[in-house]
Amino acid sequence: MLMLYYRLWDVHDVAALFCFLLYLCQRAGAISIESPEHSLTRSVQEDVFFSVDVACNCTPTIQWTFMSSSVSRAIGIWRPGVFTNVTADYSSRVEAHDNGSMGLSDLRLQDTGYYVLTVTDGMGVSKDVGFVLKVNEVLYEDLQYLSVSALALACLAGLLMLGMWLLDKAYRKIVAWRRRKEMPENDATELQHL
Ligand SMILES: *[C@@H]1O[C@H](CO)[C@@H](O)[C@H](O)[C@H]1NC(C)=O
Ligand SMILES: *[C@@H]1O[C@H](CO)[C@@H](O)[C@H](O)[C@H]1NC(C)=O
Repeated sequence: MLMLYYRLWDVHDVAALFCFLLYLCQRAGAISIESPEHSLTRSVQEDVFFSVDVACNCTPTIQWTFMSSSVSRAIGIWRPGVFTNVTADYSSRVEAHDNGSMGLSDLRLQDTGYYVLTVTDGMGVSKDVGFVLKVNEVLYEDLQYLSVSALALACLAGLLMLGMWLLDKAYRKIVAWRRRKEMPENDATELQHL
């Protein structure tokens, strides 16, 4: 009876120890990704900085991927202090940082979309964080503003011209009416004289 009790205790102990070790292992490999901002808006030709701070008790592999409704393409993959591999399309515009951050310069409209950061530790465990970037066309908005202003001015000019035309017409009518009003009197006086 006492022996059985002891054995049960042993099983519990071992299980507890195992759980504790597993917890420690998980903590050791745990990846944490801190990022202050997940949604960014920039204008064409500006730069953007996806700021993150990757913490891991390992040398993490940082991988950035671009996704939009039509495409999904790799931007770059790097291991701080080991290697940096940025895709040819992005090589001139991307800046890779050891803490996982990525700088993207000279933005284009097509850069609008989702940016996914995947961090993988040595054991193959990975974690993702997503960012949304919206790139606005400044020139286009200016043009839109200009065209609206031009339209308003054209409407105003049209109204003025219509007003002048109506005034001119009214003036002519008045002149003609006055002439017609004066005519019969002249006729009458002339008749009286005869
Ligand atoms: C990551 O590193 C870059 C450059 O070293 C720094 O500007 C940025 O603030 C860092 N990001 C965070 C979240 O710590
Ligand atoms: C960089 O990545 C591309 C594809 O993502 C791969 O084809 C190429 O071999 C890699 N280059 C290096 C030096 O790792």
